[in-house]
Amino acid sequence: MREQILKVLRESGSFVSGQELSSRLNVSRTAVWKAVNQLKEAGYEIEAVQNRGYRLAAAPDVLSAEELSSIRRTAWLGEKIYFYRETDSTNTRARSLAEDGAGHGTVVVAEIQNAGRGRRGRQWTSPEGAGVWFTILLKPDIRPDDAAMLTLVAAMAVARGIERTAGKRPQIKWPNDVVLSGKKVCGILTEMSTQIDYVNHIVVGIGVNVKPQAFPAEIAEKATALETECGKSISRPQLLEAVLEEFEHFYGLYMETMDVSLFMEEYNSFLVNKGRQVKVLDPAGAYEGTALGINGRGELLVERQGEVVTVNSGEVSVRGIYGYV
Ligand code: BTN
Repeated sequence: MREQILKVLRESGSFVSGQELSSRLNVSRTAVWKAVNQLKEAGYEIEAVQNRGYRLAAAPDVLSAEELSSIRRTAWLGEKIYFYRETDSTNTRARSLAEDGAGHGTVVVAEIQNAGRGRRGRQWTSPEGAGVWFTILLKPDIRPDDAAMLTLVAAMAVARGIERTAGKRPQIKWPNDVVLSGKKVCGILTEMSTQIDYVNHIVVGIGVNVKPQAFPAEIAEKATALETECGKSISRPQLLEAVLEEFEHFYGLYMETMDVSLFMEEYNSFLVNKGRQVKVLDPAGAYEGTALGINGRGELLVERQGEVVTVNSGEVSVRGIYGYV
C-alpha cells in the first residue's frame, strides 16, 4: 500500500485528499494515515494540509523495493524487485533466487554488499549508500555463445542512464566498464548457468559508484564516483530506474537480431578506446594495436601491424598503453 500511495502522490505532483487515496486504494482513511506516517518515518517528506490532503515534497535517497516500484516505468524489467539492506553479493543472491524459480526480469538490489565480486576474482567494495549495486536476472532462450553480448547491452544502458541522470556523457571502456574523465565509475559482471547448448539463466551485475568514497588503494588511481565528476547530487533510485529503462530498450534491440548490430554505432560513439593504442592481454601473448571499434557481434576490432584482428571479450582484457584507458 505504501508503494501505491507513493505512486498516486508522484503522479499527481500536488495534493491528493485522504478520501481520494482511501477510495483509490480501497482502504480506510485511517489506514492511509498510518501508511503515510510510516513513509514519513522512512524519510519521505509528505505535507499534510487540512481540506487539501497529502503532497509528496521530497523522497529520500533510498533503494527500497517500494521506492523503486513506485517510480518504475519499465514494461517487464523489475516487475519483481528484491531489496536487501545487506547481502553478500547481489549476483550470488540472484543466482540462488533463479534456482528457486525467480523469473526473467527480476531485479536484486542491495544497500551494502559484504562480499561484492568483480571480474577475474577481484573484490568489489560496496559501502552503504555510496552507490547502486544491483543484478538483473534473465532467462532468455538464446545460445550460450550469444550471452557475452549482454554485457554490452548493460554497458550501453548504464552509459545512457548516467547521461540522462547526471547530464554528463560518460564513455565505455570495452567491453564493460563505464568511465568518466578516464576513470572507472561502473563495473559489470555477467555470469551464467548453462547446459551444453542451453542457458538456464544469466545474471548481469552492475555496480555504479555514486557518492565520493575511499576506494581500496589498488584501484584508487583509476576509480571515481559520479558525484565527484559531475559536481552535483545524484538520486540513486532515479539513476537505477533510468538504467533499467535503457536496459529494456537495448535488450529489445539485441533480441531482435541476436547481436548488437542495431546499436553498434551508438556503442562506438561511447567507446573510449576508439582510435587509441591498446594493449591486448591475450593469454597466448600480449600485443599492441589501435582499437577501431566493435563489430555487430560486440567484438573489438584492433589493427595490428596493418592487419585487423577480432578480439573476443571472453578471453582477453584490454588496457590503454599508458594506463587504464
Ligand atoms: C568489475 O568491474 O570487475 C565488475 C564489478 C561488478 C560489481 C557489481 S555490484 C552488483 C553485482 N554484485 C556483485 O557482487 N558484483 C556486481
